[in-house]
Amino acid sequence: MAGHIPRAFIDELLTRLDIVEVIHARVPLKKAGREYKACCPFHTEKTPSFTVSRSKQFYYCFGCGENGSVLSFLMEYENLDFVEVVESFASDLGLEVPRESQNHLNKSAQKKPHRDLYTLMEEVTEFYQLQLKSQPQAMEYLQQRNLDSSVIEQFQLGYAPEQWNRLEAQFSTAYSQAQLLETGLLIQKEDTNNCYDRFRERITFPIRDKRGRVIGFGGRIMGNGQPKYLNSPETSLFNKGAELYGLYEARKSTRKLQRLLVVEGYMDVIALAQYKISYAVATLGTATTSTHIQQMFRTVSEIIFCFDGDRAGREAAWRAMENALALLSDDKEIRFLFLPTGEDPDTQIRKIKKEGFEQLIDSAVTLTDYMLDILQKKYNISTREGKAHLLNESAQLLAKLPTGLLKVQLLNTLEKLTNVSADIIEKHRTYTDRRIEPTHATRSLSEGEVRLTPVRYAVALLLNEPNLAEEVENPEKMVLYPIKGINFLVKLLEIFEDSPNLTAASLIERFRGSKYEALLIILTKWHPRHSDIQILRQEFQDCLRHIRKMAHENQLESLLHKERVQGLSPQEKNDLKILLSEMH
Ligand code: UTP
Ligand code: MN
Repeated sequence: MAGHIPRAFIDELLTRLDIVEVIHARVPLKKAGREYKACCPFHTEKTPSFTVSRSKQFYYCFGCGENGSVLSFLMEYENLDFVEVVESFASDLGLEVPRESQNHLNKSAQKKPHRDLYTLMEEVTEFYQLQLKSQPQAMEYLQQRNLDSSVIEQFQLGYAPEQWNRLEAQFSTAYSQAQLLETGLLIQKEDTNNCYDRFRERITFPIRDKRGRVIGFGGRIMGNGQPKYLNSPETSLFNKGAELYGLYEARKSTRKLQRLLVVEGYMDVIALAQYKISYAVATLGTATTSTHIQQMFRTVSEIIFCFDGDRAGREAAWRAMENALALLSDDKEIRFLFLPTGEDPDTQIRKIKKEGFEQLIDSAVTLTDYMLDILQKKYNISTREGKAHLLNESAQLLAKLPTGLLKVQLLNTLEKLTNVSADIIEKHRTYTDRRIEPTHATRSLSEGEVRLTPVRYAVALLLNEPNLAEEVENPEKMVLYPIKGINFLVKLLEIFEDSPNLTAASLIERFRGSKYEALLIILTKWHPRHSDIQILRQEFQDCLRHIRKMAHENQLESLLHKERVQGLSPQEKNDLKILLSEMH
């Protein structure tokens, strides 16, 4: 396996590339003030909300939320993984990609506690794959499930051996126990430091995010037993409400995906792929969330939900419909496919093959047909009361649907169905709308994605103007402040002090894969209202003052508490005196 690409090289690459040039070559940009704009290449839109900032070397789309550095852009746009992108830019620039050497023989020199969790997950995936090859019983199980070797390879199925401590034995030279715990691969025994492997004697399914990074695993028992599937828990890498199993593989296998089929299980995705329906994805043991739907609409304009025909399937379908309404627009389509009772896509595709299955897909009902059909079954519209109930529930649902031609038609259909004019139905809708409208009073930074604390505000200002780091004389002193996030702020101050020319995007690359990555991205999207450096400096100073004050208050609070419950040491008494005098 090739070694890790050194961070210095990534930094170097980023300073040589200009995000505006790279994107402009693929998506023509227009200058708009200090930034550049275009219609977003990642979702369909008529007015440009895709924005590229030269000073931050960062892009983001106000419409769909895609964002990142020049590296992430190419990953998304050309469907490449991180290493492929680095290699492609390097070869454009005539550079050789250096690799950190990996000497597996020298164990003590091998300690690399800072290697990131994604690399660990990748290595575990390979480890499980190897285990599978040497475990005839597991291979036999897969054969019995009729999986051929090409899909086993494509989805990188593996086998977690039966020992309780196999992962630590394998990876403890390169990774700490804390890292293994953080991935969810180990479970800690209560009240001890002992850990054991989560996955044992199971077929493993690596779960990748959209960019191809392994973020978790599913594990199926071979044969009967409970639980049938074990899944990785939610971790800093894995957010179940946002991830779709198979999305990466689908994007990888078809250059321009037209549609996605949402199924229930791992085996469904894989069986469909084996029969060349390579656009299936599965939610991971959770209902379909709006995040899932948004995620899919960034890639395709048509989604087909496939459900079992049983009661659970019908309920899941209704919930998916409710979540999808708000995300529909006239250029998007959602349809529902119900399989015969007792079948899932895995069993169905084996019986009717690709052609038969695609016929089923083509006959799937549209979201609005499905909705009207269920409502008509639910209420007896031969009575005025029944019509009123139906209209009332439709109005609630219509309230979620964005204005557009689809909505107009739905209103017309309801009018024909009930003899109540579309106008009146619409008015009823307006009334319900008002009731459910969220308040915008709490609107904060970046569309309410995070609450703007003083520490975060300071970080956001720094990302816009790294030179502000000079304003803080001894950042390391701040580490002692009892304030959440202060370590991160100090770290940024130190980084910017060392390299004041680092752009926000290079910074994000440094934190790629860490728990700070997501926050950094959100904060990078934020713009100060003023661009004048004097004003920014003032705001930054205000922020620091605020942070200092909070730190004092927290310290004071805890000293006063300690004084009451156990008394203070002479040193602490002195600290308290100083704090009290500073407060006034
Ligand atoms: P199913 O029980 O329908 O399994 O669960 P399946 O996909 O048909 O699997 P096979 O064919 O028996 O191997 C559907 C999905 O629900 C989640 C898994 O994501 C699974 O793929 N699940 C199911 C669990 O997380 N845990 C379980 O114990 C069972
Ligand atoms: Mn099944």
